[in-house]
Amino acid sequence: MNIIEKAIEDFKQGKNVVIPTETVYGLGASIYQEKALKNIFSLKNRPSDNPLIVHIHCLEEVIKLAREIPKEFYLLAEAFFPGPLTVILKKKKGLSHLITAGLDTVAIRMPKHPIAKKILKGLGEPVAAPSANLSGKPSPTTKEHVKSDFGDAVLVVDGGACEIGIESTVISLVDTPKIFRPGSITKSELERVLGCSVSETKETTKPVCPGMKYRHYAPNATVTIFQDKQDLQKNSDSNCMVLSNEEILGRDALPYSSATIYSLFREADSNKMKSISIYLDSNTKNDSGLVNRLEKASKG
Ligand code: TXA
Ligand code: MG
Repeated sequence: MNIIEKAIEDFKQGKNVVIPTETVYGLGASIYQEKALKNIFSLKNRPSDNPLIVHIHCLEEVIKLAREIPKEFYLLAEAFFPGPLTVILKKKKGLSHLITAGLDTVAIRMPKHPIAKKILKGLGEPVAAPSANLSGKPSPTTKEHVKSDFGDAVLVVDGGACEIGIESTVISLVDTPKIFRPGSITKSELERVLGCSVSETKETTKPVCPGMKYRHYAPNATVTIFQDKQDLQKNSDSNCMVLSNEEILGRDALPYSSATIYSLFREADSNKMKSISIYLDSNTKNDSGLVNRLEKASKG
């Protein structure tokens, strides 16, 4: 039995399996296995009011999960599935409350990673999966990250380093289209496909879903964002990891991107760095998904 067959078998037997996706690794359970769904929350130490994303391999599976599916869903699916986009729809009756945290909605995504696709297709059942990290830790983008959080508690399918490196863009179509979480698929790409304007939930507004109130994406080291190189030079000592995509006079700095940011956060923690200073240049500032994760980490 190869690892893909083993993963499928484990899912069928009600076990949890970590699968690679193009965004981050996901800690999965078949949506029909209540025990495995429950176990996701205990393994991650995840609050039970934080709902899960359901992963599918073909559009036919959506009708098992959602009701009153609007035409906008199919526009988005045609443009962005499989890929790093999660769409929130009204949920179908009968779907486990563990997945939706008691909400009347469900989050759906079709991953693009070839291994995730093979597993989902072979299993023939949708898989609920949050990022495969302990709650509050940076999401895992390699098998080693997953192992450092969960050890041998769960089967991990290795799919190499995740290409995108930050979690999917989350958009709700339950009312007028609204971005709940920015990611590599941008607001303007979504607006172009939908032909209308798309709003964004601001961090300051009341959480639209319980999951949004929790601390996320934070390393142990204190994260500070600088937009002025001189401030950064004044504020970073030797126990500080400096990240910058431009040269910083008199300091060694590591380049960063969405694909590497979580890895760098974890590296800072394993090297017992006290702080991470990040220089945000005018170019990097345009990457709204990355900036969102940096801001969340800096509020950690
Ligand atoms: O890229 C990704 O989306 C990764 C990979 C594994 O697919 N998954 C991921 O899952 O990031 P997680 O659980 O770490 O983040 C899911 C986010 C949470 O903020 C959760 O609150 C939100 O999606 N969410 C899930 N269901 C929702 C719903 N019905 N309404 C609003 N937000 C929802
Ligand atoms: Mg997560």
